[in-house]
Amino acid sequence: MAALVSGFSKLSKTEKIDWLVTHHFSKNDSIKQALKQYWNSDEKLQQLHDEFIENTLTNFYLPFGVAPNFVINDKIYTIPMAIEESSVVAAASKAAKFWQTRGGFKTKVISTTKIGQVHFMYKGKKEALTSFFDEIKSKLITDAKPITKNMEKRGGGILDIQLIDKTTDLDNYYQLHATFETLDAMGANFINSCLEQFAKTFKTEAETQLAEPVEIVMSILSNYVPECLVRAEVSCKVEDLSEKDIDPNTFAEKFVQAVKIAEIEPYRAVTHNKGIMNGIDAVVLATGNDFRAVEAGVHAYASKDGRYSSLTHAKVENGVFTFWMEIPLALGTVGGLTSLHPLVKLALNLLDHPTAKQLMQIVAVAGLAQNFAALRSLTTTGIQEGHMKMHLMNILNQFEATPQEKETIINHFKNNTVSHSAVVEQIEKLRG
Ligand code: MEV
Repeated sequence: MAALVSGFSKLSKTEKIDWLVTHHFSKNDSIKQALKQYWNSDEKLQQLHDEFIENTLTNFYLPFGVAPNFVINDKIYTIPMAIEESSVVAAASKAAKFWQTRGGFKTKVISTTKIGQVHFMYKGKKEALTSFFDEIKSKLITDAKPITKNMEKRGGGILDIQLIDKTTDLDNYYQLHATFETLDAMGANFINSCLEQFAKTFKTEAETQLAEPVEIVMSILSNYVPECLVRAEVSCKVEDLSEKDIDPNTFAEKFVQAVKIAEIEPYRAVTHNKGIMNGIDAVVLATGNDFRAVEAGVHAYASKDGRYSSLTHAKVENGVFTFWMEIPLALGTVGGLTSLHPLVKLALNLLDHPTAKQLMQIVAVAGLAQNFAALRSLTTTGIQEGHMKMHLMNILNQFEATPQEKETIINHFKNNTVSHSAVVEQIEKLRG
């Protein structure tokens, strides 16, 4: 049964599985089979995935789908999405199609600055620290040249370093607050390497130039990137919002109200923004970017005014409906998984090898589209109608329905409300 282990990481993959099965599953062979069935028969491909992380046992599949018909700044895109939640890809596709005939999505990168900090403690006089920093600043940058040389050749690098006094919030706490331009790289390694070099130079020089020592606490990039911003927008005449039995004026009014509610009500804002992240994370993941970094940064941005609020905004002015969002996105299209994971390479290929700036715009559009689709459903038919139809397939698969059973039941629910119990009832009825 469950046990502690030492040297686990040194075991082979098969030995790790054996250990797991012996100590957690009472030597159950079906567990071994469940893990091994996801191994890729192409050994090289499997090894590639094994080496992405540590203690790999198998692969964990996520569906990889596409949402076509996105028109962004007059260019057509088919957007790759990796996500487990039903309805998300369908919703993105639906929103893309809706806006395709209404001018498409307009986007703009506002800024691309990334941030990193060296956090340190200093008990001496602030004036001495300030003049030491002014003196040493150019050396901080020069000593990092071996790291920044290539990035500079391409037009990026360190933008600035500032000394920040945080002693009113925490005794003796100061920062070197650095800004960077990392071009098409997400830049985490670049920024962290620069910061560690700053810390080294700073501490060494302080030893001879300051009376009191500098104690470096840590050097790390920030995932809060409010100056790495992108804007996405859709807009059309209110009358052009009409669709089927939806009255465009009522729709626009309710839609704007729904956004305003998310602007002032944090409980709603969190769910509203979660829907946006359905689109954003799916594209971020499919393109090999760090969705946890994006999540952390985006939600912090949603609280920038002191209260957690909607990331999107909407208005009707002079008969024109406008729906937009500005969000921070630190993304890369080179480095990391982008040249390693075959499906990431494919996804970037599908997007026509975007620059990081272009990817920021595509990802922002996926978020805006997702929010549009969610609010359209919520303020008209309700979310469950579409959602449960998509969920129907999951329930059918759970019950291992045959293709014949699936067809009959899907037909039945074309005119009936889907609920878990109603589907189970139909399956039982069919199976006698
Ligand atoms: C579900 O994953 C996302 C929604 O809840 C978003 C929203 O409520 O706006 C539908």
